[in-house]
Amino acid sequence: MAIERTLSIIKPDATRRNLTGAINDRFEKAGLRIVAQKRLWLTRAQAEAFYAVHRERPFFGSLVEFMTSGPVVVQVLEGENAVARNREVMGATNPANAAPGTIRKDFAESIEANSVHGSDSPENAAIEIAFFFAGIEIVG
Ligand code: TYD
Repeated sequence: MAIERTLSIIKPDATRRNLTGAINDRFEKAGLRIVAQKRLWLTRAQAEAFYAVHRERPFFGSLVEFMTSGPVVVQVLEGENAVARNREVMGATNPANAAPGTIRKDFAESIEANSVHGSDSPENAAIEIAFFFAGIEIVG
């Protein structure tokens, strides 16, 4: 199995409730290494650019509002099959549909305030990692 990297974001609902460490514990226990991490408060322009793929969706304005409502922690996770592994640990987008023991089932407040973002493919992971990190900031 290939070693991959994926982009993770701990969202404002989770940083507000001081859940950064609890969420990182889930990643590490799942065999994902945090090889880069920083805390940011996204601007509207940054959040709109990051979620540009969703700009025509009805929830876009509200999503941007939420993602700029407080600090986020952006991170690069590394491990075997990291993109899919992280999506498993996160759980379904809507916490009501998330499997028991997943981050979103245990921590998310709603489909919007769902505690974490994770890249959905290795191709998007490369784009999203480059959006937030310079190569020198990632220490594997
Ligand atoms: P999406 O890429 O579909 O989900 P995921 O984060 O699981 O890859 O959607 C991106 C984010 O947009 C999602 O995490 C929360 C928000 N969102 C809503 O607020 N309402 C919705 O109906 C959907 C589908 C997503």
